[in-house]
Amino acid sequence: MTSSMISPLEAHDALGDELGVRLLVKRDDLLPFPLAGNKVRKIIAELDSLEGPPELLISNGAIGSNHCRTLALVGAQRGIRVHLVLHGEVNNDAQVALRLLKDLHASFDVVDPGGISQAIRDAQASALSAGSTVHVIAGGCHTAAGAGAYRDAAADLLEECSPTAIVLASGTGATQGGIVAGVADHRLECEVIGISIARPAGRGADSVREAARWAGASDNVDIDFLDEYRDGGYGLHGPETDNAVKMGWAHGLPLDPVYTGKAFAGLLGLIAQGRFNRQSTVVFWHTGGLANYLFSNRKTA
Ligand SMILES: Cc1ncc(COP(=O)(O)O)c(C=O)c1O
Repeated sequence: MTSSMISPLEAHDALGDELGVRLLVKRDDLLPFPLAGNKVRKIIAELDSLEGPPELLISNGAIGSNHCRTLALVGAQRGIRVHLVLHGEVNNDAQVALRLLKDLHASFDVVDPGGISQAIRDAQASALSAGSTVHVIAGGCHTAAGAGAYRDAAADLLEECSPTAIVLASGTGATQGGIVAGVADHRLECEVIGISIARPAGRGADSVREAARWAGASDNVDIDFLDEYRDGGYGLHGPETDNAVKMGWAHGLPLDPVYTGKAFAGLLGLIAQGRFNRQSTVVFWHTGGLANYLFSNRKTA
């Protein structure tokens, strides 16, 4: 598998008609990978950027994070050991996520957020002292290779359509940053609007800008990162996200309450503000998250 993976671009005319825009959905949730999403492109690109496969991959994230789950899946497929430093409450929802990691033979520690860096250093030191080769991947795969994968994916998308705007869920920012760089390369008038799933605007936009730079964008590129649809913060949500998730599923578009539901609520909000109209072609970049829908009882903010 390479970083030039292809996902479908679908016209969702019935839903678009209801919203009052021409709606295209870029289905990275349908990449050829189990429980697919944006982390597949990022992690495959990260591993492909290394000289050779290490014996151990170490990374961190929330217990239910798609990054950690995807890394464990890729490691299992490629025969590379994976160690995860996880944080979060070990409740019923977490048990399902942890069972999957165990079935994938990933090892993990669950630590307090304040202990994450030390736990990563400890795991790395102990593997190195046992003579293993190790690669540590930043949480969320917030890396130059991850951003580069989305610059390339944006270039592929723009071969297929010329959208007015691209809307997506934005977390650590490498997905959005890569897309921003890809759109800038193409010199197209197309807004790239990240809907924050957790971070406040200042920190989130800085992180997107950093990733856009890694992917080749200039320092003064515009970053559109909206934090008003966080709906309680990471892993929490209220009626606004819930309604968006239900609207998606009612039209056969699977959304989840942690990532894509918030991004879709953001799209609905932007349409309500009059930012788009029937002449606008909007690409909703679907970044995955099916496991977050299936594995969780809905938590409200
Ligand atoms: C389903 C989904 N969408 C969006 C994101 C955000 O991606 P990024 O961290 O590149 O901003 C994540 C990150 O965990 C995710 O799992």
